[in-house]
Amino acid sequence: MAEEIFVSPKKRGRIAVFLSGRGSNFRAIHAAIQAGRINAGISLVFSNIEAAPGLQTAREEGLETLYLNPKLYASREEYDKAAVREVRKRDVDLVCLAGYMRILSPYFCREFKNRCMNIHPALLPSFPGLHVQQKAIDWGVRFSGATVHFVAEEVDMGPIILQAMVPVLQDDTEETLAARILVEEHKIYPRSVQLFFEGRIEVRGRRVFIRET
Ligand code: GRF
Repeated sequence: MAEEIFVSPKKRGRIAVFLSGRGSNFRAIHAAIQAGRINAGISLVFSNIEAAPGLQTAREEGLETLYLNPKLYASREEYDKAAVREVRKRDVDLVCLAGYMRILSPYFCREFKNRCMNIHPALLPSFPGLHVQQKAIDWGVRFSGATVHFVAEEVDMGPIILQAMVPVLQDDTEETLAARILVEEHKIYPRSVQLFFEGRIEVRGRRVFIRET
């Protein structure tokens, strides 16, 4: 069977950001849009947490926000179906998970295959999951970093788009390492979204190729 190849669309795109917390990656993407580096607009900022500070920022920026209460849905899939409906209504091209602390159902992952990105504060496939800055320190690795990847059914394991590396220092704490990684997150996430809407991201199997312009 011929290998399936996905190429991202070159167009003015529509983005939905999913977040559960402070939203600094959301702000980095928003800032890159406002600076004209990303050819897209944010059509929706979605959350599973009503009090997420990122939602408040979005409102202040005049962006449309939506909170759906997970407790009102019978299952993870039912919740995700509602989220997908909202995203589809707005004709969104790309979902950006930016600190969205809820595991997505296989249904959601299939619906947005190659159209949903996530940022993870480690060099995947090392240290998937949570508290990964502390895990990197405890393991004694000399380098860690950040990874932007497409979302696949296996958590934190989809095709890798961009990575950035930072040193792990001997006196690092979880907080100092997280802060050093975050600086890189704010560079590679907007850059990945930029590449997406420049039509330069090509996915073949689990490898991502960045096309030259
Ligand atoms: C970041 O460290 C990101 O890598 C992880 O969750 C955190 C979100 O931070 N997925 P913020 O809400 O974008 O500030």
